[in-house]
Amino acid sequence: MTTERNQTLGEFIIDKQEDFMYSSGEFTRLINSLRLAAKVVSHQVNQAGLVDIVGAFGKENVQGEQQQKLDVYANEVFIKTLVNREIVCGIASEEEDDFIAIQGKKGNNENKYVVLMDPLDGSSNIDVNVSVGTIFSIYRRVTPIGTPVTQEDFLQKGANQVAAGYIVYGSSTMLVYTTGNGVNGFTLNPAIGTFYLSHPNMKIKEDGNIYSINEGNYVHFPQGVKDYIKYCQAEEGERPYTSRYIGSLVSDIHRNILKGGIYIYPTSTKAPKGKLRLLYECNPIAYIIEQAGGKASDGYSRIMDIEPTELHQRVPFFCGSKNMVEKAEEFMSQYPAK
Ligand code: AHG
Ligand code: MN
Ligand code: MN
Repeated sequence: MTTERNQTLGEFIIDKQEDFMYSSGEFTRLINSLRLAAKVVSHQVNQAGLVDIVGAFGKENVQGEQQQKLDVYANEVFIKTLVNREIVCGIASEEEDDFIAIQGKKGNNENKYVVLMDPLDGSSNIDVNVSVGTIFSIYRRVTPIGTPVTQEDFLQKGANQVAAGYIVYGSSTMLVYTTGNGVNGFTLNPAIGTFYLSHPNMKIKEDGNIYSINEGNYVHFPQGVKDYIKYCQAEEGERPYTSRYIGSLVSDIHRNILKGGIYIYPTSTKAPKGKLRLLYECNPIAYIIEQAGGKASDGYSRIMDIEPTELHQRVPFFCGSKNMVEKAEEFMSQYPAK
């Protein structure tokens, strides 16, 4: 093990604080809070089956999806951790109807960052002991500091992100994030509750051989996607590619970053705008993938250039190894978007 690999996330954050363009203790404290909430959720995820945390919560979220107990739990942990520390001025979550403005106990919140998140991604996998995740995205507010945040602060294009990350609660818990200077991954040692730098400067191969898509929906896919799937399955050179689909975006993306591959969640006749959410899932993952040398697109253009119009907006998502995404776009371009 190199010395670098023995570095803890806490040490890494302090070391890198000066590289960060908006260097201030505020940002460091924010990442520290996310790290803390991640540990709390990780602990709970690992107890699934032992404590009453598995299964449906009994309510739907604003998007009409069944909330799982862990969705609600993780949402509360991340929100409470950030609100109690008065570390951000606003939060938007996949599990909340609207954004939360944090005024602070004295009503004079001077913080400049907003956080957008998918607190528990892939929650339908929790009951069957399959990896789940958390995704977060951080922006500087655009409205004046000290005033209550407005929707404008959240509806920013992905290219404005100052940091993004995910936590994967898998065979081990890992936190992977970027502040625009590459991507670094940290693995939790649960015995002592410390994240260590295990994957410095993560890079995704330009060419991969894994494609990840819910192929059960094939008949509902646009023709460009159907054609690309057939291309992946054709026997030529490195092809046919391997198909891997966990059904937890974070886990599928994490694997593809490490091994090389493409992840696709397209539009379909069942989900005409796609399923994944631009602000909580696609933008943060796109930022990480681009920082790792990959590409993220809606099939025609760059995800991070999309100007959002609503908080829970959905988009089609093509993301991963650069050459694979470009190939998929080539097939899509034969059938222009309506
Ligand atoms: P969430 O649990 O946050 O609602 O996200 C689920 C998402 C994503 O994690 C996954 O890739 C996708 O839904 C799977 O959808 P399908 O079951 O339609 O393939
Ligand atoms: Mn999700
Ligand atoms: Mn979720």
